[in-house]
Amino acid sequence: MSIQPHQQDHLMAQWVSQFRTAAKEGQCASYIPALAKKDPNQLAIAIIGSNGNEIKAGDTTELFTLQSVSKVITFILACMDRGLPYVLERVDVEPTGDTFNSIIRLESHQPGKPFNPMINAGAITVSSMLAGHSPQEKVIKILQFLEQIIGKQLSINEEVFQSEWQTANRNRALAYYLMDSGFLDCPVEAALEVYLKQCAIEVNVSDLAMIGLVIANDGYHPLLKKQLFPKQVAKLAKALMVTCGMYNASGKFAAFIGLPAKSGVSGAILTAVPGHAGLNSPFPTGCGIGIYGPAIDPIGNSVAGVQLLKHLATEWDMTIF
Ligand code: DON
Repeated sequence: MSIQPHQQDHLMAQWVSQFRTAAKEGQCASYIPALAKKDPNQLAIAIIGSNGNEIKAGDTTELFTLQSVSKVITFILACMDRGLPYVLERVDVEPTGDTFNSIIRLESHQPGKPFNPMINAGAITVSSMLAGHSPQEKVIKILQFLEQIIGKQLSINEEVFQSEWQTANRNRALAYYLMDSGFLDCPVEAALEVYLKQCAIEVNVSDLAMIGLVIANDGYHPLLKKQLFPKQVAKLAKALMVTCGMYNASGKFAAFIGLPAKSGVSGAILTAVPGHAGLNSPFPTGCGIGIYGPAIDPIGNSVAGVQLLKHLATEWDMTIF
C-alpha cells in the first residue's frame, strides 16, 4: 500500500497548534490509571485520502489505546461472523442520551436488550458474540481484522488492560445484567476480557485514519483495492457513528460537524468522510481522519480533538448533510 505525503501538512500544523490550547478545558481520563499519566497537551491528526495522500501534524508518533473506538470494529466483525439479523436481535440501533457506561435502561426497558453497540452494554454483548471458542481466539480475530485494514500487526497495552480489568466493576455489573437477561453468548468474564482487551489495542493517528478510510469507502480498501467487509455493514456502522458515536454529545456533533465519528476515553476520534461529504476538501473522493488529544470532556470526547475537527469540517465544508 503506498501513501503519499500531502503539501498541506504546514497548514494542518498551524491548526493543531491553534487548537492544542483547548486541551486546558479537559482532563485525561482518571478512572484508568494508565491513561491519567498521559500528557494532556498532546494533539495529533492524520488524514488519509482514497487517492493515497496523507496529511498529518502534531504528535503523530504517539501511541494510544482504541478504547471505545474499538466498538465500531467489533460491531463490523460480529456482523460478518454472525450475520446482521443475529446481531440486531441482540443489540438495537437506538441512541440513548445516557452516559456510555449507564446501566439504567437494562432494567427500565424490557427485555433488557442493549440500545446500541456504541455504549458499553451493547459493546460487551457484541464482543461476546464474536467467532472463537475462547476470549483469546476472539481477540486474535479482532487483531487479524485490523491487520488487514492497517497493514501491520497491532498489540495490546497490558498496563491499560490490567488497570481496567482490576477496576471494571461497572462493566462487570453490566455484563451480569446482560447474562441474566440472556443477551451474552459467552460467560461474563470471557466477554469482559475480550471487551477490555479490544479497548487496550494500541494505535497511532495514521492507523485510525486508515480504519476511517475503509469505513468511508463502504468496506472497500481503496489502497489495497479490496472489499474487506460488506457495504451494508459499513453503512450501518456509519449510521451508528452519527447517531451514537460521540455518546450523549452525538446530537450536537451531528448538528455542528456532521460526520460519522467515534470517540474513546483515551482521547481518540475516528472519523469517516465519504466522498460526497468531502467535495470541497483536499480529499474529494473521501478520506479517513484519526485524531488524538487525551484531555477529554466529562462526556468522554477529546476537547481539542473535537474543536480541531469542527474547524476542519467548517473550513473544507465537510458534512454528510
Ligand atoms: O469501558 C470502559 O470504561 C472503557 N474501557 C472504554 C470506554 C470509552 O472509551 C468510552 N468513551 N468515551
